[in-house]
Amino acid sequence: MKITRVSLIVLFMVISCNAIFAQNEKSFPDALTVIYNRRSVRHFTGEKVSQDDLIAIAKAAMAAPTAVNMQPWSFIIVTDRGGLDALAKVLPYAKMLDKAGAAIIVCAIPEKALQGKTEFAIIDSTCAGENILLAAEALGLGAVWTGVYPDKNRMDFVRKQLNIPESVIPLNVIPIGYPTSEDKPKDKFKRENMHWERW
Ligand SMILES: Cc1cc2nc3c(=O)[nH]c(=O)nc-3n(C[C@H](O)[C@H](O)[C@H](O)COP(=O)(O)O)c2cc1C
Repeated sequence: MKITRVSLIVLFMVISCNAIFAQNEKSFPDALTVIYNRRSVRHFTGEKVSQDDLIAIAKAAMAAPTAVNMQPWSFIIVTDRGGLDALAKVLPYAKMLDKAGAAIIVCAIPEKALQGKTEFAIIDSTCAGENILLAAEALGLGAVWTGVYPDKNRMDFVRKQLNIPESVIPLNVIPIGYPTSEDKPKDKFKRENMHWERW
């Protein structure tokens, strides 16, 4: 086979393109590594979180399972410093918002849930919440679920602060940011919590 100058140039271009794409591709840890390394992160560097990462996290949230695939949820993403500080000021266990780059509020919508039931809306949205925590870990970020539901005062405050309709349940506020190295994963595996075949 005759190797022409043109075919050599084409080959060179293909190899170069592959090298460039390989450099730009982010590599992610495998699923079990992400799950075992996830921990509640309460100490952030203060660095901002990119919109691309927040969209990737929201996409992970919406990939969660829901009863009959009803997806009874919405997600409020707060990036504004004033908005984050306003939440931190009132929510008693969410003071880490002062250094977070963003926060996601998972909102459960009973009227969109299976049989219009609050229970299904909460269960489904909780699955989405866990996906947010895992996606943050996978992206090299940190996050922590801070409780809003079922505390009525906190729900009322978050609704008012973020203009959430009365029929929608703000489940949590999840601060997200770049972790300092202070928070470590806990080993919570307990064999006594496993029951093989029956209780
Ligand atoms: C429903 C729920 C409410 C929580 N509320 C808070 C909270 O308000 N503030 C906080 O710092 N952590 C909160 N957490 C995080 C727990 O404290 C944390 O998940 C638990 O201590 C286990 O630690 P780990 O997440 O590092 O494994 C909450 C978690 C859940 C699931």
